[in-house]
Amino acid sequence: MKIDQMKIKECRACNNPIEEFMTFGQMPIANDFMKEKKDNEYFFEMAPAFCNKCFTFQLVEQPEADMMFHEDYAFFSRQSKFMQIHFKEYANWVLSNYSQGDNDFIVELGSNDGIMLENFANKGIKHLGVEPSQNVAMVAQEHGVNTEVSFFGYQTSKQIIENYGNASAILAANVMCHIPDLNDIAKGAYNLLNEKGVLIFEDPYLGDMLEKVSYDQIYDEHVYIFSAISVQNIFGSHGFELINLMPQTTHGGSMRYVFAKKGQRDIQPIVNEIIENEISNGFDKESTYIKFKENCELSKKRFRDILIKAKDSNKTVAGYGATSKSTTILNYCNVGPELIDFISDTTPIKQNTLTPGKHIPVLSYEYFKENIPDVIILFAWNHANEIIQKEKDEIDKNVEWITHLPFFELKL
Ligand code: TYD
Repeated sequence: MKIDQMKIKECRACNNPIEEFMTFGQMPIANDFMKEKKDNEYFFEMAPAFCNKCFTFQLVEQPEADMMFHEDYAFFSRQSKFMQIHFKEYANWVLSNYSQGDNDFIVELGSNDGIMLENFANKGIKHLGVEPSQNVAMVAQEHGVNTEVSFFGYQTSKQIIENYGNASAILAANVMCHIPDLNDIAKGAYNLLNEKGVLIFEDPYLGDMLEKVSYDQIYDEHVYIFSAISVQNIFGSHGFELINLMPQTTHGGSMRYVFAKKGQRDIQPIVNEIIENEISNGFDKESTYIKFKENCELSKKRFRDILIKAKDSNKTVAGYGATSKSTTILNYCNVGPELIDFISDTTPIKQNTLTPGKHIPVLSYEYFKENIPDVIILFAWNHANEIIQKEKDEIDKNVEWITHLPFFELKL
């Protein structure tokens, strides 16, 4: 087991000195669902910092990449119908805005099970997925998506050019925020793209996280939570220009960023609008993050109080969706099987396991349907619409649905 417990003292992106402004305490690997308790379960200190030079929100310590992304990686994008539609729309949007016709060659970084690229593959468009986890890459290949098992960086970009030529678009979804060395990615992307090529990625948005106090967006894989001002600084220093932005509802609030090589494409007005909004909301100021820390502490107290009250009233309590995000909530709030009976999840690989760190049983959706609790904690709150739609006529109206989010209204 390779462990990099080195706390960084300099910003990962610009080398400016940084220091954590809070800690979420000892955290396990968010997707390390286990068949039985381990003697040597791995924990790291999950502490975020804010860089007051490039304005990047980041973790000061992150486990080695091969501890998080490996052949047992438990996240399959195809689980959600909503995400399938989302990626189809993403692919169509890329083609209608940034297609180069016969020159199209679409490369996706962290292409997972091929959920997005199959939309290009089905149209016969030249494409390549670069995916480090073999098990999900194999699923992509089974769906006819050309995939190589690899991490992306400057070296990989040279090999891709040699084998396939330059790319017209490089895409990523919920991947860029996982990658500590963004400078190598930016260098590789600049090298791989042709002159008019675009780099498009979307990730959970800092603005949504600060507003909703959705601190569960932070876990080992998410080394960064981006804002427009931070990515503009990072990618801007590698010859890129932010030319478009598109807010997204996915993953509890995300942002799609579009970069082109400097001077190659027009900058859309929304770029300045969002940047001005970020500045007026203090995304460039440390005081904003101190306020976030205080909000997290209040949220923790509220969540524990709700669960303790439920247990004191002898109510049964179950979680819905063993999300990566739930690992942060459960470990930060110190909530285990004494407060939550089990968590239901539709992903076969997660079923009959224990949650990382707190060891709450994860059971099948079928079990959940036969054992509907008095209180359901919607850990997959980012899929609230899809889940409520599915469950509203199925589950008794007296069952209480809650989330850990203090300002999130669940519309049943
Ligand atoms: P997700 O929120 O997509 O991501 P993350 O793990 O990054 O926080 O994870 C959703 C989880 O919820 C996944 O394990 C599948 C599960 N799930 C259900 O059990 N039922 C559902 O109806 C949906 C939509 C998801």
